[in-house]
Amino acid sequence: MRPLRPSEQSVLMAWFNNLSPHTRRNRFFAPVTEFSDAAVHHLVDVDAQHEYLLAVVRYENDHAVPIGGGRFVHEENEGDGASCSFSLLIGDEWQGQGIGRRILKALLREASRRGLRKMRGDVLADNRPMLKLARSLRFEVIDRQDGVVHIVRNVPRAASARWRRLVQRLLRK
Ligand SMILES: CC(C)(COP(=O)(O)OP(=O)(O)OC[C@H]1O[C@@H](n2cnc3c(N)ncnc32)[C@H](O)[C@@H]1OP(=O)(O)O)[C@@H](O)C(=O)NCCC(=O)NCCS
Repeated sequence: MRPLRPSEQSVLMAWFNNLSPHTRRNRFFAPVTEFSDAAVHHLVDVDAQHEYLLAVVRYENDHAVPIGGGRFVHEENEGDGASCSFSLLIGDEWQGQGIGRRILKALLREASRRGLRKMRGDVLADNRPMLKLARSLRFEVIDRQDGVVHIVRNVPRAASARWRRLVQRLLRK
């Protein structure tokens, strides 16, 4: 799990263009037919101060091959300015193996480290895997009645997350 490098854009473009129509629809809410250079650049070129992007790659003969990733964007103009919206995308052959869960937990940890208080997202109402994942990580699911549901949860405060990890470590001993 690591950030992406600008030099990986061409590998990513091939990866995006290999995604199934179902996965594209669930992530982008529309049947995207072709990801252009500009579209991929827009997806992976993050402003590190206001966004966070995490990718999971594996190595084949020293070449990084993408598996999936997640990102969040600070929403400075929403509420108290301490919320962010997230998205996740796992390659078709890697879905259902716990990778989305690991990435979403990592996004929550980073949001906590940045002092953000709420994380939200929009999900198609028929996207069962994402809704199951969201519910199991204690996101509240709010039905908007237009085929999209809104999911939101509080981000744990950095100090309380640290204490919880310490208690868990002590309990394991
Ligand atoms: C939705 C998505 C991010 C989930 O990531 P994932 O790695 O496939 O999911 P995980 O393996 O971490 O599983 C998460 C939960 O969903 C469940 N799940 C996974 N695939 C499922 C499926 N096809 N049907 C029903 N439930 C499923 C798992 O059982 C798991 O629940 P559990 O932990 O209680 O067992 C991923 O499937 C994906 O990228 N889909 C396409 C794009 C998308 O939908 N993005 C979300 C919009 S922001």
